[in-house]
Amino acid sequence: MEKKQKIILVTGATGFLGSAVTRRLLDSGFKLRLLIRKRNNDTLTTSFGREGAIKEFILGNQFDEYLLEQNSMAGDRMGADESLYDLFLSNVEIFGGDITSRDLGLEKNEFKRLCYEVDEVFHCAAATHFENQRADELMTVNVKGTENMLQFANTGKQKRFHYISTAYVAGKQNDIVYENELVDEEPLFNNEYERSKFIAEQVVIKYAKGDEIPYTIYRPSIIVGDSKTGATCKFDNLYTFAKVLFNIRNALINHNSENLNDITVRVPGVPDALINLVPVDYVADAIVAILKEKETADKIFHITNPNPPELGELRDLLMSVLEINGIKVKIDGPMEHKHLSAIERLFLRQTRTYYSYLFSRLRFDCRNTQSVLKRAGITCPAITKDLAKVIVGFAISHNWGDRKRTKLQEVEMA
Ligand SMILES: NC(=O)c1ccc[n+]([C@@H]2O[C@H](COP(=O)([O-])OP(=O)(O)OC[C@H]3O[C@@H](n4cnc5c(N)ncnc54)[C@H](OP(=O)(O)O)[C@@H]3O)[C@@H](O)[C@H]2O)c1
Repeated sequence: MEKKQKIILVTGATGFLGSAVTRRLLDSGFKLRLLIRKRNNDTLTTSFGREGAIKEFILGNQFDEYLLEQNSMAGDRMGADESLYDLFLSNVEIFGGDITSRDLGLEKNEFKRLCYEVDEVFHCAAATHFENQRADELMTVNVKGTENMLQFANTGKQKRFHYISTAYVAGKQNDIVYENELVDEEPLFNNEYERSKFIAEQVVIKYAKGDEIPYTIYRPSIIVGDSKTGATCKFDNLYTFAKVLFNIRNALINHNSENLNDITVRVPGVPDALINLVPVDYVADAIVAILKEKETADKIFHITNPNPPELGELRDLLMSVLEINGIKVKIDGPMEHKHLSAIERLFLRQTRTYYSYLFSRLRFDCRNTQSVLKRAGITCPAITKDLAKVIVGFAISHNWGDRKRTKLQEVEMA
């Protein structure tokens, strides 16, 4: 690595991926400036309570499993005598702001200081919901917010720009998508979230090329919990399916235990659809390894699983991990014109957001990423039964996210 102690401005540090990357950037010795979303009447930078909670949240000790991860990271730093907490105290400054404002919601003097002292921008903040009714918010946060961050990167000192996109800017294509392929034309999208991320990515490339800002685009696929501990603070995608199956199993066992063998639940999809899952520790490790290399500027990286499971395999893994015996779950194509049972209707209603992904055979080339990761000794964990057990086990033991972000929310409400 070149010069240590670079200053990186991070957005989205309170989020699922942003917090994992923030911990690793700290551990790598960078100085960080965190732009944390300021809420109404927030006294973010002065209130010890909120700041303390953010530290806890970013350092990830709201779940015991994060502490385990922290300890294992400390163990990896041979001879390191500073804990992440100490590193946080000495190397992090927190700024309350909002990426949707042109001045990032910062005080004038703060904005100016950051413009001149920050070396690189790590832009991870985004609106990440799949609700098309809230498309305006997606466009404002994801597109306008990214434009504002680019503007910041180009004001004062010119800064390298790291942008977290998504592999699903590829939309509804059913082919292989290459990292080096620049798509000009909008594909069909599964939802407005994908569209907003596609437009934002185009903005990054156009703006960065025009102003000669070195940029790196990271495109993760579907992120799930930590591969060693299962820890996550976000319980969408895979968890939605696992939770519905878990609830169906419990309901049937409670009400119908004698006839379990007779029940077939038809679900939408094709058995060979590819579900590209990546554990958050792999994604964060990969991003930091790529970010540290100078040669990765002006390139795109698919942070995807080189061997993604098929939907049929994933169904079998979940059934086995959730110990669903006797009930058959049949992946049965489109559901639109079928007469559905009450259970099938329930399944469909609760997983509707992800319907089109269950038919996707989209593949992601990830050779740019793999060549960096090979040098760094990082490999993508295979989606095995053991891994599924860890991931689903964490979700069950944390009641599918009912406890998520409690500390931060408690302080916010106080
Ligand atoms: N999770 C996935 O499976 C996945 C897959 C591919 C790509 N990605 C990309 O990875 C990035 C992180 O995703 P995630 O899953 O970690 O999301 P997340 O948990 O929802 O976190 C989003 C972050 O953005 C912040 N944010 C939102 N609006 C903001 C605003 N106006 N000003 C400042 N900060 C704002 C949030 O702050 P608050 O804490 O205040 O809400 C939070 O820290 C996103 O760019 C997403 O598109 C995610």
